[in-house]
Amino acid sequence: MRSEHPAITVARSPEQDGTRSATAVAHPNIALVKYWGKRDERLMLPWTDSLSMTLDVFPTTTRVRLGPAAGRDEATLDGAPATGEALRRITAFLELVREMSGSDRRAVVESTNTVPTGAGLASSASGFAALAVAAAAAYGLDLDATALSRLARRGSGSAARSVFGGFAVWHAGRDAGTDADADRCSYAEPVPTADIDPALVVAVVDAGPKSVSSREAMRRTVGTSPLYRPWAASSSQDLEEMRAALRRGDLAAVGEIAERNALGMHATMLAARPAVRYLSSATVTVLDCVLRLRRDGVPAYATMDAGPNVKVLCHRTDAERVAEAVRGAAPRASVLVAGPGHGARLLSEGT
Ligand code: DP6
Repeated sequence: MRSEHPAITVARSPEQDGTRSATAVAHPNIALVKYWGKRDERLMLPWTDSLSMTLDVFPTTTRVRLGPAAGRDEATLDGAPATGEALRRITAFLELVREMSGSDRRAVVESTNTVPTGAGLASSASGFAALAVAAAAAYGLDLDATALSRLARRGSGSAARSVFGGFAVWHAGRDAGTDADADRCSYAEPVPTADIDPALVVAVVDAGPKSVSSREAMRRTVGTSPLYRPWAASSSQDLEEMRAALRRGDLAAVGEIAERNALGMHATMLAARPAVRYLSSATVTVLDCVLRLRRDGVPAYATMDAGPNVKVLCHRTDAERVAEAVRGAAPRASVLVAGPGHGARLLSEGT
């Protein structure tokens, strides 16, 4: 059995009270049991538990520098000033950090993303996990990994899981009574796994931004899709089976559960009114290729998020063969092999 327990502790000490800038890095994660639907948008509480693998590709590096109390927060994303909804989300997040730290200083955020933003590759997960770690350090908060996961969740739900490396489960915290209890009970933590030597072959069939944000798509699905409740109910069964499959190191079972959970999630969106359809003809081409690989005896299983791109779970030893097959089937796709990556961590702190 192996389980990752990253020790991210952002400690506050008198010496560090002079700290006014911090840089952190985080990686995206791909959910094998999906998060789709919030029961509380303000607190970012999901209806269901979810489980993911953090990747070793597409890191986001974020620097937070504190400025004066007057004025407003500023942010650049890949060198371009953040505006509109992106800036609003960052500012709302920093507001939370200011409340927790008792500081009223504004911040300058510089974030560099290596994942195509908005293409269903969870750039918000790596983005808010890195921002949580960097902002907590810059504002001098004393947070352990669980508290950082709770904090990252408030920026983007899936970011709660990117605080951890390898496989992580995010608890919905639905048994909690009050808002404060629910907030405390909803965080991610590492999942014990036998070594399944996993790889995710990422097929980017379209790197453009998505037509409907995942936030809006979730809202519409929960509000209008007759398939949402049945999927949410089956998802908790999927999670139990997924945990057991990971514990015994059964990649085929992990893959089967992940594929059915993802297809079910997309079915809920297709049944929303109006429908949300992220899957494209190129997605289906890759799905057919995955089926052929399985028929040829290669354990390979597909999952898709809020976009047309496909991630294929397989053994690392089969990853090149799977990648070649996907390149053959979808020559315009850009295909790369990812493995399990580390959790979010602080790179540097300064004044
Ligand atoms: C399909 O975490 O991006 O990737 O919480 O509204 O920021 P917000 O949404 P986000 O949604 C991710 C949805 C998903 C599934 C998953 O990662 O579990």
